[in-house]
Parts: sequence; C-alpha cells; structure tokens
Amino acid sequence: MQIILDELGRLETDAVRQITTAGTLDILEELRVQVLGKKGRLTAILRGLKDLTPDQKRDIGGRANQLKSKLEELIVSRRDELMGAASGPGLIDVTLPGRPLHHGHRHLVTLVMDQIVNIFQRMGFEIADGPDIETDYYNFSALNFPPDHPARDEQDTFYVEGDRLLRTHTSGVQVREFEKRKPPVKIIAPGLVFRNEAVNARAHCVFHQVEGFFVDTNVTFSDLKGVLEAFVYEFFGSGVAMRYRPSFFPFTEPSAEVDIRCFFCGGKGCPICKNEGWLEILGSGMIDPAVLKNVGYDSERVSGYAFGMGVERPAMLRYQVNDIRLLFENDIRFIRQFR
Ligand code: DAH
Repeated sequence: MQIILDELGRLETDAVRQITTAGTLDILEELRVQVLGKKGRLTAILRGLKDLTPDQKRDIGGRANQLKSKLEELIVSRRDELMGAASGPGLIDVTLPGRPLHHGHRHLVTLVMDQIVNIFQRMGFEIADGPDIETDYYNFSALNFPPDHPARDEQDTFYVEGDRLLRTHTSGVQVREFEKRKPPVKIIAPGLVFRNEAVNARAHCVFHQVEGFFVDTNVTFSDLKGVLEAFVYEFFGSGVAMRYRPSFFPFTEPSAEVDIRCFFCGGKGCPICKNEGWLEILGSGMIDPAVLKNVGYDSERVSGYAFGMGVERPAMLRYQVNDIRLLFENDIRFIRQFR
C-alpha cells in the first residue's frame, strides 16, 4: 500500500513539472498519453487497485482520481498557454510591411524577339520554327551553299555526328516550310543558332535570329523594302535613317544588307558603330531560284524574298547593354532590370 502511495507521489512531482514546462503542443500531448493514456502511468496504478481491500481502494482510488483531475486541468491550461504564444499579441507585429513577392518575367532577349515577331505578325506573317539540330541539307545544301563554301568550315559550324550539325542560322526553316506548303507562304521564324566562335563582349557562340520569308506570284524587291521599312520604323523609331548595301548570300539574288544610322552618335562615328556612322541590322534578298527549285516550286511562276536578323544585337543597342555575355549569364540582378 505504501508502495502505491510513494508511486503516486513520484508521479505527481514528475508530471506536474513536465506538464508545466512542456515546450510545444506535441510534447504536451506525448506527456498526456504517457500519464493518462490507456498504457499511462496513472492508469496502471488505478488498475493495480483491484488487489487491495475495499478501504484501501477507496483511499488510494480517491487520491489517484484527484491527481488525474489535477493533471488534466494542468494540461488544459498549459495547452492554452502554448497556443496563445503561437498567435497572441506581442509576438507578431502586424504593422510590419509584407515581404515583396518577386514575379517572374520574360528575359530581355525573349522580350525583344517577341517584339520583332509581333511586328511581322501584324503584317500577316505566320510563326514557324525548326529543329536546333539540323542536317547539312537544310542548313546548307538546299540553300544553295556550294560544297566548298567557307561557312561549312568546321571553324563556324558545330558538327554533331554524321551530317548533323547545330544550325548556324534560321534560314533552313525556309526549306522545311516550303517543303510542307504551297505558295503563298509568308512566315516569320524565331530561334536559336550556334556558331563555333570565340566568346567575347561582342560575339557569342549561341544567339538568336529571326528569319522572315514570303513566296507568292509577283513578289518583288519593292515588297521586301516595304516590309523592312515598316519594321525598322516600328522597332527603332520612325525618325531613323536606313540604307541598303549590296551583299552576297548563296540563297538570295540579289542580296542586300540593311543598316540604320547609328543612334548613339547620330552618324558622326563612335566606338559603337566602329566609326562607320551606320549599324548593320539584317541580311535580305530575293530568294534564289535555285532554292525554289530545290523545294519543288516553279521558279518561273513564283518568286519570293527572305530576310534574317540577329536578336541580341538590336536588344543591346536598344537597352544599352555593352557585353553580349550578360545576356546569357542569367545574373538575376541584370535580368530584373528589363521587364
Ligand atoms: N542567314 C543569314 C545569316 O545568318 C542571314 C540572312 C541573310 C537571312 C539574307 C536571309 C537573307 O533570309 O535573305 O547571316
């Protein structure tokens, strides 16, 4: 009998101390189970009463039940304390300003590429794309590059295996789309291109281009000039001066490159335009009949123009970025400046 009384005493001391100092609601619940649960210490004591005399049962049973009520009350009040600490006044300062959520946005290059594409879409061009890994045929042969053309040199082209390569320009999309469609075909094709070149502030081995082309009956060089001028005035501003320079591309004849007057120096000459007073922005021309024949078009009946431009260069000009590598490093402090 004395043993049971001692046990009750020890249980009371332990349990009161543990319950009043329980640090979390989980710990408190664990204590409740340990003491008052089915296999708890107090429950075990109450079960042991059956071997005692009726007087002893009454005496010890009464004390055990008192202890049970006391501990239950303590648990409830400790629970209130702990819950109050989690949400009560004083611990949360409701006047603190909220933490700003950072919203994602398009990358500067994507932004500019979308602007370019959008201008042509409004002039009736449909969007298309082609694979980054191309075959020699679509990237070169079908575009009338002779077998020994320097652009096929491994200096410029990343070869994958066999006749597969990373496309060096988006012009191959012309061939892929011509093969799929009948004229009129009027398409704008944005995408990534790759060149095996040393990376520096002005050049990168990966960059973006936008290719445009239109084939129909009676498409002329004036039509080409019309869309290019509409584009340049829309993208760079209506005050900008532009000029055509005769050029050469295997897949266009005649070919012209388009320059705009340097808007940093107004044409006087500066480091940005390398003292030329002009900035080159795109290549263009009338699609060579040889290309039309390669895709099975009747070059006597239809004609077309094509143009292609880089995206990074105009993006850098417009947003005054002086190192192309910044566009690919994905430093969030840089990216966040252009929304
Ligand atoms: N593909 C040429 C390049 O990467 C750019 C180009 C020039 C595209 C003339 C054209 C074009 O469609 O007609 O340098």
